[in-house]
Amino acid sequence: MQKQELSTPSLILELSRFDANLALMARRASAAGKLLRPHAKTHKCSSIAVRQLAAGNCAGIAAATMTEALGLAKAGIESILVTSPVIGSDKINTLLRCQSLCRECIVVLDNYDNAIELQAKAAENNIVLPVLLDLDPEMGRSGVAFQQAGTLAKAIAALPQLSLLGIQCYAGHLQHLANAKLRRSESLRLLGEAAAIFRALRAEHAQLRIFSGSGTGTAAFDLQIEELSELQVGSYCLLDSEYAALETRQQLGFNDFSAAISLMSSVVSNNQSGHVTVDAGLKALYYTPDSPPLVVQNAKILPGWRYDWFGDEHGKLYYDGKKPTLGSRIELSLPHCDPSINLHEYIYVTQEGQVVDKWHIDLKNR
Ligand SMILES: Cc1ncc(COP(=O)(O)O)c(C=O)c1O
Repeated sequence: MQKQELSTPSLILELSRFDANLALMARRASAAGKLLRPHAKTHKCSSIAVRQLAAGNCAGIAAATMTEALGLAKAGIESILVTSPVIGSDKINTLLRCQSLCRECIVVLDNYDNAIELQAKAAENNIVLPVLLDLDPEMGRSGVAFQQAGTLAKAIAALPQLSLLGIQCYAGHLQHLANAKLRRSESLRLLGEAAAIFRALRAEHAQLRIFSGSGTGTAAFDLQIEELSELQVGSYCLLDSEYAALETRQQLGFNDFSAAISLMSSVVSNNQSGHVTVDAGLKALYYTPDSPPLVVQNAKILPGWRYDWFGDEHGKLYYDGKKPTLGSRIELSLPHCDPSINLHEYIYVTQEGQVVDKWHIDLKNR
C-alpha cells in the first residue's frame, strides 16, 4: 500500500530518515566516548526503543512514567532509567515489578521522604533498588538544588536497600532556546556545575558511575562535558518541526538529522474559497498557535500552504494554487512529537512512500 492510501489521520514514519538519525547520534556519542540512553517519552513505542538499542552505543532506555517503564520491561529492555521521581505506593509497586522483569530499573529521586518510602518498599521485597540523585538545573521542575546535593546524596547512600549509582541533570528549559549561543553557554555552565558535584560525590562514594542528562537541543555541546556518561536524547530520532525549524539548527550540530515523522490527513470539505478543511484537529496532533503544523511532502515544506486549528477533529488549510479536491491527502509535520504521538494507536512505517510495517504505540497514555 502507498502511504496516500492509508486511512486518515495516520502517523507516518519514514524508515530511511529514522534509521539515519539513529546511526548519526550513535556515531557522534561514540566518537565522544559517551553512551546514549534514548528517551521513550518521545515515541512511546517499544518497537522504536528496540531499534534504538540495535543502532548501538546505548546504556539502555529512559522512561518518563511507570507505564512507559513497565511496557519497556515487558518488551525485554534490560536497563531502564525512570527520569521522574516515583511517588506513592501504586507506582512504587510498579517500579518493583519492573525491577523483577529486567536487569536494572534505575529511578531518580530528589527528596529524602521519597528515599525512605523507596527504602521501606525495597526492604519489604528484599531487593536493592538502583537510584540516581536528580539535580535541578535551575529550572524548578524536579531535582534537588546543587547546593543541597551533597547532603541528600550522603543520606541516600546510608540507606541499605538503595544503591546510589550517580546523578541526573536534565536542562529541559534550554532544549528549544532559539539563541544557540545562549543555549550552548547555559548548558555548559549548568552541566559543568553538575559535573563538579558528580566529581565531589564520587570522591566520597566510589560506586558512582552514571551521570545522565542532555537532550536533542544541547547534545552537540554536552558531549564536551567529560563526566557526562549518557545522553537522554529523545526527539533526535523523529525530529519534529519545532526542532527542525529552529533557525539556529546548523549551529546546534543537528543539521544532518531530518524529520522522519509526519501526519497524513485528508480534505473532508472544500466548499469555501481560500481554505479547505482537513481531518486533523486537536485529537490527531498537538498544536499551539506559536507552532502550527507545516504542510509537507516527504519532509519538504510546501511554501504558501498554512494550517490553522479548526476544532477537535478538524484543521483549516490555506492552500496555494489549485484548490485540493475532496479526499486529497495532505501531509503535515508534527510541531511537537511527544504529545502528538500519544494520541495515536500505530505509527505506519514507510520506505519511499510504500507502507512496509506498522508499530504499536504500546507505552502511551500515562
Ligand atoms: C528528563 C528528560 N530527558 C530527556 C528528554 C529528551 O529531550 P529531547 O526530546 O529534547 O531530546 C526529555 C524531554 O522532555 C526529558 O524530559
